[in-house]
Amino acid sequence: MRETIRELISEEQVNERIRELGEKISKDYEGKTVHLVCILKGACFFMCELAKRITVPISMDFMTVSSYGSGTKSSGIVRIRKDLDDPIKDLDVIIVEDIVDSGRTLYYLQDVFKERGCHSVRTCTLLDKPERRVCDLTVDYTGFVIPDQFVVGYGMDYDQKYRDLPFIGVVEFSEED
Ligand code: IMP
Ligand code: MG
Repeated sequence: MRETIRELISEEQVNERIRELGEKISKDYEGKTVHLVCILKGACFFMCELAKRITVPISMDFMTVSSYGSGTKSSGIVRIRKDLDDPIKDLDVIIVEDIVDSGRTLYYLQDVFKERGCHSVRTCTLLDKPERRVCDLTVDYTGFVIPDQFVVGYGMDYDQKYRDLPFIGVVEFSEED
């Protein structure tokens, strides 16, 4: 099978939308400090760009969670593979994700974070595929709603490839010629 990438959302569109999200978050958190938690590895490009656009003070931490194997389908079981470096008690946390699919990852993490005593927890995702949702999850900040397609780029991978693409694309498979 040959893989090709079809552009879905351009680099300019992504950057513009991140600027808008940064503005919105800055307004909502006026007078506060936002603790951004990046879900590695997919959300790292998004979170760094977003952090640059937020005008209130921020701090950052990183977590690795797995719910996927090496393919394009979720296994359904969420595991923390690398935990946060610091406690989040009393902090205003925004969990930053690349994409929400079934919703299991964020649903699970919201519970974990609340149990750890953060002052507030909200969620922010660059992309959302609501058609595939199996959890009753409300996402607070969403970049783009997309149809049920497997996407890569801007941090997102297919088998660890394509994270470095500056735009968001759809993976298409065709017979080798
Ligand atoms: P959920 O728990 O099913 O919502 O899965 C969310 C996670 O699955 C995301 O953080 C991604 O790592 C991965 N994922 C879901 N859909 C895609 C996709 O289209 N491309 C790349 N990764 C995806
Ligand atoms: Mg992810």
